[in-house]
Amino acid sequence: MMRTGDTPLISMRNIKKSFGSVHALRGASIDVYPGEIVALVGDNGAGKSTLVKVMAGVHGWDSGEYDFEGQPAKIASPSDATALGIQTVYQDLALCNNLDAVQNLFLGRELAGSWWGGRRMKRAEQEVRAREVMTRMRLGNLSLSRPVGAMSGGQRQNIAIARSILWKPNVVILDEPTAALSHSAAEQVSILIRTLADEGLGVVVVSHDIHHFVVNATDRIEVMRLGANAASFKSSDVTGEQVVNAMVGGNEAVNLAG
Ligand SMILES: Nc1ncnc2c1ncn2[C@@H]1O[C@H](COP(=O)(O)OP(=O)(O)OP(=O)(O)O)[C@@H](O)[C@H]1O
Ligand SMILES: [Mg+2]
Repeated sequence: MMRTGDTPLISMRNIKKSFGSVHALRGASIDVYPGEIVALVGDNGAGKSTLVKVMAGVHGWDSGEYDFEGQPAKIASPSDATALGIQTVYQDLALCNNLDAVQNLFLGRELAGSWWGGRRMKRAEQEVRAREVMTRMRLGNLSLSRPVGAMSGGQRQNIAIARSILWKPNVVILDEPTAALSHSAAEQVSILIRTLADEGLGVVVVSHDIHHFVVNATDRIEVMRLGANAASFKSSDVTGEQVVNAMVGGNEAVNLAG
């Protein structure tokens, strides 16, 4: 793991969030450092998606601190998070199946510069930019002109990730990126997020694939249970079984992350 600085990109402390009477987050904390892949794990309903949605500006939070690069984060909407370089790849990927990869990469963001200047990025310009980003992600051999609906789940996942890094973010959040993927496609996602971390990005990844993906492809594991942190591990020092035990039971919070 390469920590390029001691200030985390993101530091969330004791975040609480309720939906009516449902206490989705009861005091959750997480730090995200540049160059680091953090796994967020826990049983269904543990609060993982809620925490990353607060991180991404989708939900506000009721109490607790959220700092970005050491300053209180001014995040009241997803566009505030995007402006800070926090990009999210959602579970449903939000791709348009009838459009090709280039069109999907620029979907909703075709305008570069001021709207009144009418600087609509031209297809040729988009293709160059798309090719750049795919090469950077070592996906240079993926077709950019086929409809993404005709692509495999793994290829679609890669395009969704490429879309998130097109604007050079600081943090990429992935909610269950390997959920529907074959072993080899999941492996490709692992390589891809390591490439991003090696470039100095912070990566947060929610996953239920503890035994393969989480223990092998991440640097640190934060275990959530009932809306709070239950344990923290350094990925290289833990077995899948230990992580699962921390997810489902045991009364005491453990901290082996050092
Ligand atoms: N928009 C919402 N309105 C009401 N309750 C919600 C909302 N979003 C989440 N919750 C509740 O908050 C709790 C945490 O949900 P969350 O989606 O964060 O869990 P999760 O850890 O992502 O689970 P999973 O592994 O199943 O995706 C659950 O009890 C859920 O029902
Ligand atoms: Mg979830």
